[in-house]
Amino acid sequence: MSTSSNQEQNNYRPSVNLDHIQTRDEAEEAIEELRQALRFHNYKYYIEDDPVASDTEYDEWMNQLQELESRYPELLTPDSPSQQVGGEPQEELGLAEHPIPMLSLQSISEEEEARHFDKTCRKELGVDKLAYSCEPKYDGLAIELIYNGGSLDQAITRGDGETGEEVTENVKTIKEVPLRLIQHGDIPIPERLVVRGEIYMRKDRFEELNRRQAESDLKTFANPRNAAAGSIRQLDPKIAASRPLQIFFYHVALADGIEFTNQTEALLSLPAWGLKINEDLNRKCNNIDEVIDQYNHLVDIRDELPYEIDGMVCKVDNISHQEQLGYRTNNPRWAVAYKFPARQSTSTIREIKVQVGRTGRLTPIAILDPVNIGGVEVRRASLHNQSEIDQKDIRIGDRVVVERAGDVIPYVVKAITEERGGSEKTFKLPDSCPVCGSEVIMSEDKKQTHCTNKNCPAQLREGVKHFVSINGMDIEGLGAKRVENLLDLELLERVSDLFYLKREEWMRLEDVAEKSADNILAELEVAKKQPLKRFLFAIGIPHVGQHLSRVLAEHFETIDDLEQAREEELRQIHEIGPEVARSVCLFFKNDQNLQDIERMRKAGLTLENPHYSEQPQPLAGLRFVFTGSLENWSRNEIQEIVEKYGGRTTSSVSGQTDYLVAGPGAGSKLDQANELGVTVLDEDEFIQLMEEKGVAV
Ligand code: IVH
Repeated sequence: MSTSSNQEQNNYRPSVNLDHIQTRDEAEEAIEELRQALRFHNYKYYIEDDPVASDTEYDEWMNQLQELESRYPELLTPDSPSQQVGGEPQEELGLAEHPIPMLSLQSISEEEEARHFDKTCRKELGVDKLAYSCEPKYDGLAIELIYNGGSLDQAITRGDGETGEEVTENVKTIKEVPLRLIQHGDIPIPERLVVRGEIYMRKDRFEELNRRQAESDLKTFANPRNAAAGSIRQLDPKIAASRPLQIFFYHVALADGIEFTNQTEALLSLPAWGLKINEDLNRKCNNIDEVIDQYNHLVDIRDELPYEIDGMVCKVDNISHQEQLGYRTNNPRWAVAYKFPARQSTSTIREIKVQVGRTGRLTPIAILDPVNIGGVEVRRASLHNQSEIDQKDIRIGDRVVVERAGDVIPYVVKAITEERGGSEKTFKLPDSCPVCGSEVIMSEDKKQTHCTNKNCPAQLREGVKHFVSINGMDIEGLGAKRVENLLDLELLERVSDLFYLKREEWMRLEDVAEKSADNILAELEVAKKQPLKRFLFAIGIPHVGQHLSRVLAEHFETIDDLEQAREEELRQIHEIGPEVARSVCLFFKNDQNLQDIERMRKAGLTLENPHYSEQPQPLAGLRFVFTGSLENWSRNEIQEIVEKYGGRTTSSVSGQTDYLVAGPGAGSKLDQANELGVTVLDEDEFIQLMEEKGVAV
């Protein structure tokens, strides 16, 4: 097995010149060189999140490898990095047996049940205290991977626990899944390794995917879990390859010749073979109180996570204890799924109102009898569009299932038709706009209904709310109520007017006296320097959400550059599809939009990427990793600060890390940092370091 401790020092850059390769032997040697390099860079990119090669270099080596493999097809192996792009479609998904049954977990949801679980385990084992490995319970697709001799042989879904579907070709297209394991630490790669994990899709990628699917008239998915499962359980690997799938590993079912003492140790061995674990959120808890703290912590941060989790899995850490506790028919006695509070409940639709959004789109909103869902009172829920209402046959007066997930608007999942009394009424969106009375048009599939009046006051109102919102220009002093007030007073005709209003004008708003007016003015001043990515999101280009705003800002330095980009140029950008490219171009062809942007520029908005390099760079050359929860900043904010002053942030600890900043709840990264002798700072010490370096935080 090739070990990579020498690769770590080596800066792994192959020097292959295709023109000089004449013989099969030379080809074989070059192929091996390219494969090793690509595996190494995959590891740096996907596991360490610390790439040391550019995309262009990587692509060039991959092209060279593919070229050589097509010249010498007999040299192609199934674990070559070139095989990660998706091969030929299969006839059907075969079945395969799990070497060890894939069991499910017993579910609990109350603290009392968690304490009971702990008590029963301790009693059975005759110990006073038990440590647990606590891990997020991912809401994705469970998968088992079998590596023989270090190469990925099989990927099998859970199925009935004994037998599952063989989806190897699809799973091989997931970039975070290494086709061949490489030893990065001390533990040799076992001859046979059976590992389990969860395939998932990030929430933002899921939304982009659905948008792309809708644009191309393809099936959309109800949630990220269905999207992940649908991408894996189908015949054409090219489809899986085009889907943004990721994986977290969480269980070693079998590792020939290796006896792990505990689950946390087993998990930590995985990244050292190239298998990704959740270093941020896995946590070893020393007793049940810590388990409950960690559960509450996950409940708190759940909505901020980029992917869906629906609970926490709590596993007795010590493996000989696990063996002693053993199994029931369907689940282990040594682990539980500690589920989050439900996000669904039922209520009755009293009426259906129609809301007009910032693009003029009409959305039907169900007005409900108030119902508490996961601690929040819900009175309104989205019905999305006419097609949805028709398909789900939702009527006014129906008893319905309502779901609330994070900060997205609650929505009606389905009508409970069994409870109908006969007085329920069907609903149709109106023919004219409820705000301005203009004609509305509905698309043929009944999924989109728009007001035809470009100057409809509802569009301006929603546009301004979006512009000032927290993810947009972030003007806290301007909430929805004040925006409505501004429009009622006719102080605003377009978004750019915000930057031209005088103090006296702000003071005409309800509850705005001198001090509040000054605060708003000060906030607007700060907003003028917001980076391009925020501005792009704030101006509300149709189809361009937060993620695509960032993608665009990474490609264009200033708003002018973007304005001048042609459709073809935009389409070249990864993740920008034809519909988005068209939408961006249309937006910048519209005179009203251009004038508004121009007025904002004149008002002093910078409209470009921040010029970090003009800043002093006291953190140049320093690498930071943040873990645990921080009190003063969000992860994003602190990363922006470090990068602004020349520092780098990575998501995993390596020998090159200078500082690990660890807040409460820090998990395996802290252990790794201690092992590697990396300086660990708490938040106060970090602030002190910044002060010493002259960085204002
Ligand atoms: S361990 C014997 N760990 O939950 C231990 N399962 O009922 C087996 N799941 O669908 C499972 N996150 O895919 C484990 N961190 C985690 C998990 C996890 C999600 C899923 C698993 C299965 C279900 C178990």
